[in-house]
This record gives sequence, structure tokens and C-alpha cells, in this order.
Amino acid sequence: MSRAESKIDIAVLASGSGTNLEAIAAAIEDGEVPARIALVLSDNPYAFALDRARRRGIPTAVVELKDYPDRPAYDRAVLEQLQGAGVDLVVLAGYMKLVGPEIVEAFRGRIMNIHPALLPSFPGEHGVRDALEHGVKVSGVTVHFVDEGLDTGPIIVQRAVPVEEGDSEETLHNRIHEVEYEAYPLVIRLFAEGRLEREGRVVRVLPERT
Ligand code: GAR
Repeated sequence: MSRAESKIDIAVLASGSGTNLEAIAAAIEDGEVPARIALVLSDNPYAFALDRARRRGIPTAVVELKDYPDRPAYDRAVLEQLQGAGVDLVVLAGYMKLVGPEIVEAFRGRIMNIHPALLPSFPGEHGVRDALEHGVKVSGVTVHFVDEGLDTGPIIVQRAVPVEEGDSEETLHNRIHEVEYEAYPLVIRLFAEGRLEREGRVVRVLPERT
């Protein structure tokens, strides 16, 4: 598939600021990623990611856990939104909830997440802080497929970010963010071009077709 031939539809799930969403949307606009953002979904009605989407004219949805009797009901509501939007790929970008098993099953191999540390080290909500407190000298970025676990799915791409003397969580996260803004659009492009091949836990990037 050449970049011009076909575009995939993606949903971006975000709970917070949405700077990764912004980077992905910008890369799409620049023609670097053959995709369309069909939906931005958040569990947080105040997520700035929603404002970013609205400004770009991207459809948004809010699905709040408090509006559902239990977690499975919440997950079904999220799944309905994703299926309703007819997306090919689900992109977690600062989505601070574990994705329910029904959603993982329905989109197996078609959900990815970005994590601000070198997995399998420092999974969870505070990857940057945990790595810093552990005293690592190199942290980084991981983009991985999502499975039922917490940040346990097959790794697609990793980038190292050295820790600098005197780094705070904020300064290190800022440098990690800069790397995320390159890595996530790249991985979405590779997916859209059909260049990610999985064998068990190992993901290979196939060469560009000519
Ligand atoms: C990103 O750094 C992402 O890696 C991280 O949240 C940030 C969201 O930033 N995700 C996690 O920690 C997931 N465990 P953004 O809202 O500005 O894109």
C-alpha cells in the first residue's frame, strides 16, 4: 500500500492534556500518516484533549465510569463508541484506564498504547516518576500493542531518553514527550502501511514496499 492509496480510521483515547493527540493530528495533516481520526474518546469530560479535538473538528465522545453500574458496563459503552465509529485502530494516548477484556478481544492486534518508560520496567500510571526514583540512567518511550495486562503487550518500538543530572519528573517527562511526538505517528504510519508483523511477543517492522 502506498501512502496515497488508502487511509485507516483511528480512534484516540485520552484522559488528559492530549499533546500526543495533537502530534498525531499534525502528522496526519502534514501527510506523514495515512489516517483519519474518526473519534477522540475520553473518560474525563474536562480532558484538554477533547478541546484539541473539537478545535480540529474531530468527533468526540465522553464515557465516564460514574455513569455505569460497573466496569464491564462501562467497557461495553466504550466498545460501542469504537465500533460505531468503525475504526481500524485504537490509539491510547494518555488514557489512564486499563482497557477491558471485551475491548481487547474485539480489537486484538489493533489497539496500541504509548508509555513514558522502557517497558517492562516501570509500568502503570507513574512511569516517569518511578524510573527517576529508581535511579535509572536511561529511560524512554515504549509503543506497544495492548493486551489484557497493565502495559504488558508486545513491544512495537522503543526509544531511549537519557536521564540528566538534576532531572525532575517534569523535565524528564518533557524530553520524553518530545520523543513520543515522533514515535507515535511513526508507529501509526507503519500500522497503516501494513508493516507490523507479529510472531508471539515479537513485533517486526517490514521494509517499505516499493
Ligand atoms: C504521555 O507521556 C503518555 O506516555 C503517558 O501519559 C502522557 C500523556 O500525555 N501515558 C501513560 O503514562 C500511560 N501509562 P498527553 O496527554 O499530553 O498526550
